[in-house]
Amino acid sequence: MKLLHKQTSVNPRRDEELLLPRTPPYPPKTLKHPRSLPRSINYLFKEQRLLFILVGILIGSTFFVLQPTVSRLGPSDVRSMIREGISAGTIAHNQESRYSGGKLLSPYGKVGRVAAGIGRRRLRIVVTGGAGFVGSHLVDKLIGRGDEVIVIDNFFTGRKENLVHLFGNPRFELIRHDVVDPILLEVDQIYHLACPASPVHYKYNPVKTIISFLHLLFITITNVMGTLNMLGLAKRVGARFLLTSTSEVYGDPLEHPQKETYWGHVNPIGERSCYDEGKRTAETLTMDYHRGAGVEVRIARIFNTYGPRMCLDDGRVVSNFVAQGIRKQPMTVYGDGKQTRSFQYVSDLVDGLVALMEGEHIGPFNLGNPGEFTMLELAEVVKETIDPSATIEFRPNTADDPHKRKPDISKAKELLNWEPKISLREGLPLMVSDFQNRILNEDAAKGL
Ligand SMILES: NC(=O)c1ccc[n+]([C@@H]2O[C@H](COP(=O)([O-])OP(=O)(O)OC[C@H]3O[C@@H](n4cnc5c(N)ncnc54)[C@H](O)[C@@H]3O)[C@@H](O)[C@H]2O)c1
Repeated sequence: MKLLHKQTSVNPRRDEELLLPRTPPYPPKTLKHPRSLPRSINYLFKEQRLLFILVGILIGSTFFVLQPTVSRLGPSDVRSMIREGISAGTIAHNQESRYSGGKLLSPYGKVGRVAAGIGRRRLRIVVTGGAGFVGSHLVDKLIGRGDEVIVIDNFFTGRKENLVHLFGNPRFELIRHDVVDPILLEVDQIYHLACPASPVHYKYNPVKTIISFLHLLFITITNVMGTLNMLGLAKRVGARFLLTSTSEVYGDPLEHPQKETYWGHVNPIGERSCYDEGKRTAETLTMDYHRGAGVEVRIARIFNTYGPRMCLDDGRVVSNFVAQGIRKQPMTVYGDGKQTRSFQYVSDLVDGLVALMEGEHIGPFNLGNPGEFTMLELAEVVKETIDPSATIEFRPNTADDPHKRKPDISKAKELLNWEPKISLREGLPLMVSDFQNRILNEDAAKGL
């Protein structure tokens, strides 16, 4: 007792705690009234709450049902979605906003805001010859619309400068590679442009060019091996393949303007035949792979194209005249200058190539500007643009130079909904300013 008394007196608060009834720290849970269920149902039905919940569930489930379907789509499904406009503005890529200030180029070049939600699957595309004149513009368009692009080029006529603005872009890759050697890449589409295209270059190395296009499979170093390699790659990975053929397949034409149904008038043993016959063989191979191996193919027959990034001294008539005009040299006209050509601006061609690749038709399709000019008329336009006092120098014509060239583009108009938009007088100044800069830089480098 004594001890107990002592403890009590030492810790009186603890004694109080022991004696007082304990109050719980939280108020006790009130038992639900059995009538609360109907009240909750009442709550749900009031102010259309149930309707809002159902609409929410519907939106959510639609999103989750569609999302995996879209990511499983193959390239052809995606292409048809693009045609139907489903993809417009939905190529949601963070990288794109990094490169285009939050905006992106739609597949057809229009600028739109990046939309969240379901988007077209990003395509992985190979462009052979992508460091060249046409190829580099095509690469710009494909990167601009949000795809991944791999360029394969051996820099025979192409230049890194044409692509330098894309270095560092995570959707762009450049591989130094000769298409005569096989390469394996997982891709959805192949634009096959690699080929020494200008007269100077294909005459400079005629043996290599002819080898390029003959279907002699046992010859190793060939450009036809390039076409075969790319067709083989397309077959292996199920990619769509586009061949850039040429109006040269019509040779010195007996039909004017040239329709795709015309079989051409080509000298098979002339100086130019390494190119003309090479491209004809490439077309044959392309169709053989389509018929025999089920490869999805497209064939473009390109007519004379001009624009910025053309080689300065490649022997093509527009670049010749423009470079000579800027350097204050006489413009060289071969023959009497009455032979005709049609000149298409490069962005029109690139639009046509993409429309062909995305469309459902194999071709061949003529892609060119039907505006027809004699060489003398072209020289006059160049004079107007650069220097009205420029002079013309006549030289004997080259062998097998076609007398006339003008595309009939009704097939492309009807089936690809494509036609060129830029006239020679609009396009030429754009090329001239590019040439002026490059010639100035060259002269500065030479210390002139
Ligand atoms: N520009 C035109 O007026 C025109 C007309 C008709 C057809 N084409 C065709 O369009 C395509 C592109 O022509 P372009 O004017 O841009 O020519 P280009 O010479 O500027 O480009 C061709 C590119 O292919 C590359 N190349 C060549 N051989 C190669 C090989 N074996 N392996 C890898 N790369 C190789 C070159 O280095 C170059 O970058 C060519 O196939 C050409 O035949 C062009």
